[in-house]
Amino acid sequence: MASLTVRKLDDALKASLRLRAARNGRSVEDEVRAILREAAEGPAATPRAPEVKAAAMRPERTHAAAGRPRVTLIIGGGIAAYKALDLIRRLKDRGFHVRCVMTRAAQQFVAPLTAGALADERCYTDLFDPQSEFDAGHIRLARDTDLIVVAPATADLMAKMAQGHADDLATAILLATNRAVLLAPAMNPLMWANAATKRNVAQLARDGAHFIGPNSGEMAEANEAGLGRMSEPLEIAAAAATLLRPPPGPLTGKHILITAGPTHEPIDPVRYIANRSSGKQGFAIAAAAAQAGADVTLIAGPVDLDDPPGVRVIRVESARDMLAQVEAALPVDIAIFAAAVADWRVANAGEQKIKKTAQGMPPLQLTENPDILATVSKLTHNRPPLVIGFAAETEHLIDNATAKLKRKGCDWIVANDVSPATGVMGGDRNTVHVLTRADADVAIDSVSVDSVSVDSWPVMTKDEVATALVAKIAATTGHPPA
Ligand SMILES: Cc1cc2nc3c(=O)[nH]c(=O)nc-3n(C[C@H](O)[C@H](O)[C@H](O)COP(=O)(O)O)c2cc1C
Repeated sequence: MASLTVRKLDDALKASLRLRAARNGRSVEDEVRAILREAAEGPAATPRAPEVKAAAMRPERTHAAAGRPRVTLIIGGGIAAYKALDLIRRLKDRGFHVRCVMTRAAQQFVAPLTAGALADERCYTDLFDPQSEFDAGHIRLARDTDLIVVAPATADLMAKMAQGHADDLATAILLATNRAVLLAPAMNPLMWANAATKRNVAQLARDGAHFIGPNSGEMAEANEAGLGRMSEPLEIAAAAATLLRPPPGPLTGKHILITAGPTHEPIDPVRYIANRSSGKQGFAIAAAAAQAGADVTLIAGPVDLDDPPGVRVIRVESARDMLAQVEAALPVDIAIFAAAVADWRVANAGEQKIKKTAQGMPPLQLTENPDILATVSKLTHNRPPLVIGFAAETEHLIDNATAKLKRKGCDWIVANDVSPATGVMGGDRNTVHVLTRADADVAIDSVSVDSVSVDSWPVMTKDEVATALVAKIAATTGHPPA
């Protein structure tokens, strides 16, 4: 029988094996055994490791960051790396959530454990770390932040950035990000004055990077002084705060509450009733509203989407949890209810896992869930001045949406056809009709079809729908975009 040594395989194959193994929650050796078994007996012969194991390995979602601007601090391998530890504290003092990444060289100067302990989250160091990389963690790390600070930004790191290298975690994140990047260079004055460094710095500035420092002063090396000292942590934190301050937009000063995603209604501790909502439309609206300067609270049912930048995200499970969080968020200026809230929940949900018995299927009794849109629309105290509901329909779209507008007492309804052929549920495109009550003073019960105006938009991406909806809201309630 032939023998196979994983260690002797080529590097690319080993890397992809490691990722595959991590994704399936197995050791590399077990993954190889599974592949061989599949090849010999077919895929059904190899049960996948339970999903829960893979989920447990996902890098933590930033619930801890909810509502706080997120800073990813990349620590380069310079003598000033020790000051990055103080910078973590200074950034946290300003209310930022800090996540640290270290280059291999940085680990010669400070320990990842120290940075992780100060940041309250493990420090990321390895591009090929199965724990964070099984779901392309470097892409998540690049996007799941509002600002990237590189301190110290070594001559080497800036050279790699200028060239677009991505051969370690730090450079891969920097290449994959679309967030602002703040560089705090630190190096010997001769390195800073070197023509190559000058070229790289100029290139990075042209590429849109922001710089703080370097300052002039004494170097760590004896008898060396000049331009090259890293800016002080307080200065770097202040520069980060300036970059994170959102520019005023048409919805600056408005507090917007948005719900998104499905709800999960428990049947027992391990099963639930759900629907196909992906939450993409609500998340896109939250991102567009934040971009327009609004203070946004997003209450999301269980979805696999990252927190939009600058948005306070509260994650919930059931309709009742969602209503409780909505009520706690009031008062707001505008409420947008894009969540697909389950109409019913199981009244006789089991406290323990319901077992299969000889008596057959247990009867599930359904009871009506609270109607969040109607509850908020009909509030006499703290009713938001503009309440927008969503109507996902599979037939008679405009008629049903008009009836919903009347029944719920909201001000606008965004109606969309979600029949399977449209691909709207879970997809990236949407075709919506915005129904508005033509006369806001008309009593709810007497709103007739004639007093509702219908604005039909062409097929758009969910991001485009979000931008158009936010522009319509701004035109109605705020300052229209210039
Ligand atoms: C003791 C010591 C101090 C160093 N200090 C710096 C420094 O302040 N700035 C710098 O650009 N490089 C410095 N270097 C060189 C970097 O460590 C080296 O270029 C490394 O490859 C940088 O890796 P990184 O940019 O991936 O972190 C130093 C090297 C040593 C041995």
